Amino acid sequence: MDGNGRWAKRRNLPRTAGHTEGEENLAALVRVAVTRNVGWLTVFGFSTENWVRPRTEVRHILGLHKQLFGRVAELNELNVRIEWMGRPFDSPEARTPKYVQKAIRKALHDTRNNTGMVFTVAFDYGSRAELVHAAEEARRAGETISEASINQHLYVPSLPQVDVLVRTSGELRISNFMLWQIAGARAYFTDTAWPEFGAAELDAALALVTP
Ligand code: IPE
Ligand code: MG
Repeated sequence: MDGNGRWAKRRNLPRTAGHTEGEENLAALVRVAVTRNVGWLTVFGFSTENWVRPRTEVRHILGLHKQLFGRVAELNELNVRIEWMGRPFDSPEARTPKYVQKAIRKALHDTRNNTGMVFTVAFDYGSRAELVHAAEEARRAGETISEASINQHLYVPSLPQVDVLVRTSGELRISNFMLWQIAGARAYFTDTAWPEFGAAELDAALALVTP
C-alpha cells in the first residue's frame, strides 16, 4: 500500500494524514473485495524496514493498525476472517509493541469463525525474515528442506499462492513482500496512490486473473 506520503504531500498535508486516509481506504476496499468474491486479500501494512522512519510517523502508523485490527464488528458483518503475518511476537527481532499485539490477538480470535474472505495484514513483516524463519522451523522439526516443508512453516501456511500482486503509486519494483508466494503471479502496477486505489482499480487488477 504505497504512496500515502506522496498523496498527503500533494495536498499540503502531513504524511500522517496520508496514512489515515490509507487506512480508511483499506477498510473500504475490504468491503469491495468481498463483493467481488475475493478469497484472500493480503496487504503490506508495515515492514521490518519501516521502523527507521521518524518516531512520530511510526507511532501514528501503529495507532492505525490498532484501529484496523479493532474493526471486528465490520469484519464480522462481512464474514471476513482477519489474519496477521510478521515476525513472531516471541522472536528476539520482533518489534510489534504490546498494545498492537493485543489488538492483533483479539481480532484474530474474534473473527476466527468467519468463513468468507481471509484478510491478512502483514505487520512487522519481511519476506526474507519469513523464509529464514520457515527454514529454521523446518530444521528444528528435523524435516528435510523441501518446497513442501518451507510452505508448511510460512507465517500463515494456509495462504495459497498469490494470483495477482498489486503495487501502487508508480513504483515499478518488487519489495520484500511474499517473495516465495508470488512466483508466477500476475502483476498490476498503477500510478494511483494507495489512498485513491478504489473499486475500479481493484477490478482492473482482478481482470488479470479472471477470464
Ligand atoms: C505507504 O505509504 C505506507 C507505509 C509504507 C507504512 P508511504 O509512507 O510509503 O508513502 P510514500 O511512498 O512516501 O508516498
Ligand atoms: Mg513508500
